[in-house]
Amino acid sequence: MKKYLFSFCFCLLTASLLAQTPAIVLNKPDTSRGVNVMKAFAERSSQSKFDTVSLKLQDLSDLLWAADGINRPELGKRTAPSAMNSQDVDIYVALKKGFYLYDAKKHQLDLIAAGDFRQQVAGRQENFAGAPLFCVLVSDISRFKSGSDSLKLSWAALDAGIISQNIALFCAGTGFATHPRVTMDVPKLREILKLKPTQYPLINNLVAYRKD
Ligand SMILES: Cc1cc2nc3c(=O)[nH]c(=O)nc-3n(C[C@H](O)[C@H](O)[C@H](O)COP(=O)(O)O)c2cc1C
Repeated sequence: MKKYLFSFCFCLLTASLLAQTPAIVLNKPDTSRGVNVMKAFAERSSQSKFDTVSLKLQDLSDLLWAADGINRPELGKRTAPSAMNSQDVDIYVALKKGFYLYDAKKHQLDLIAAGDFRQQVAGRQENFAGAPLFCVLVSDISRFKSGSDSLKLSWAALDAGIISQNIALFCAGTGFATHPRVTMDVPKLREILKLKPTQYPLINNLVAYRKD
């Protein structure tokens, strides 16, 4: 009897631990930081040298808000436009400790898979695997309510490209390194992130403190 009671309590404890989703609650964005917009354009470039140290919470918070956060809460609209406001692109963030999904409404990162998957994002460009963070932009084309599949894929690419450029301009304006890349191990990422067939990893941006 004691044995059964112990097993029952153990199962309950495990179930309640699993039910708690470990999340990184992000800070309110600091919308006053950075250089002026023309200077940011002047500074924008793809960097291949970067510091490997992890980003501070405020920097991570500002990066994600700039990338595709909610800037008009009353409308639920975002810093990046999307075709028909479909908001088809999700940002999966690869950190040393795990893969997270950005929840723009809650402005937090939800854990999707614990572990270090930066190598899979670097893909065959192994020199990038030491980046402290990658934003992997994944479009779910089922969020487009009209159009052929080929049209949906082109809208998806455009929407992801705009978010990638938001990241680039945030980095240029605040002194971070970034590099947009289509290179990544897509089949492995599909497995790790448990993506649906309608979800397409399109591009990723590493983000790091600058080395120079
Ligand atoms: C859609 C797209 C895909 C890219 N894919 C890669 C990539 O897979 N690997 C890489 O090292 N750089 C990649 N880049 C970065 C380009 O090589 C880089 O933007 C180009 O050399 C111009 O340099 P700049 O960004 O410093 O102006 C990509 C850029 C874009 C816009």
